[in-house]
Amino acid sequence: MKVLLIGDKGTIGSAVKATLRGRGHEVVGASRKDPSHPVDITDADSIERLFQDVGAVDAVACAGGHVKYGTLSSLSYGDYRSSLGDKALGQIELVRRGLQYVTGRGSFTLITGVLATYPVVTASAAAAANGAVEAFVRAAALEVPPLRINAVSPTLLAESVGKAGHMFPGVEPVTAKRVANAYVRSIEGAETGMIYRLFDGTS
Ligand SMILES: NC(=O)c1ccc[n+]([C@@H]2O[C@H](COP(=O)([O-])OP(=O)(O)OC[C@H]3O[C@@H](n4cnc5c(N)ncnc54)[C@H](OP(=O)(O)O)[C@@H]3O)[C@@H](O)[C@H]2O)c1
Repeated sequence: MKVLLIGDKGTIGSAVKATLRGRGHEVVGASRKDPSHPVDITDADSIERLFQDVGAVDAVACAGGHVKYGTLSSLSYGDYRSSLGDKALGQIELVRRGLQYVTGRGSFTLITGVLATYPVVTASAAAAANGAVEAFVRAAALEVPPLRINAVSPTLLAESVGKAGHMFPGVEPVTAKRVANAYVRSIEGAETGMIYRLFDGTS
């Protein structure tokens, strides 16, 4: 398959890219700093240019989307706006623009995260963005057939413990490889409207 992967050089994206390539898929990476396929998912025109440039694909996967962290009183209206605008609206626009370019029973795979389900202090903007993406995926799945749409919701990655572990005391991290396998399930499988939660009630 030809897979367009947004955020292919990040912690999750690089594992998804390596796993998909290892399974014989062609992966076209794109991100803000990508020299060949620059895209900022907060900019609808740049998403459109990306699709025009890349053309038809079998799958679109996203592993990018930035959110701001802080307490309710320290986060500004602009912080909430940019968090929802980037991770939630950015991914929604990726799907909207991509509908014309994904072929057959192709798929969209979006990224959310544990914070929609088990929030922690300072993560209200992230929780709101993740929840919006998950609700969108469930609703869009009703309208996109024969295309499919799913979301991957990891807990803290093992690879991110050094940076963010302090926010998740007692949480059992998930490996990037396991997260990448959820993308494989979404892209190669037949499911739609799924939220692949990579955590359990005690993690
Ligand atoms: N790491 C974790 O523990 C974890 C756990 C659960 C959920 N998540 C979620 O997973 C997603 C990815 O996390 P990560 O840790 O892999 O992040 P990361 O290492 O910072 O990588 C993010 C990737 O996305 C690209 N990107 C960021 N903003 C973009 C934009 N507006 N438009 C296009 N590309 C953009 C970045 O490249 P450029 O800078 O070139 O744009 C980069 O390739 C985030 O939404 C995060 O909330 C992460």
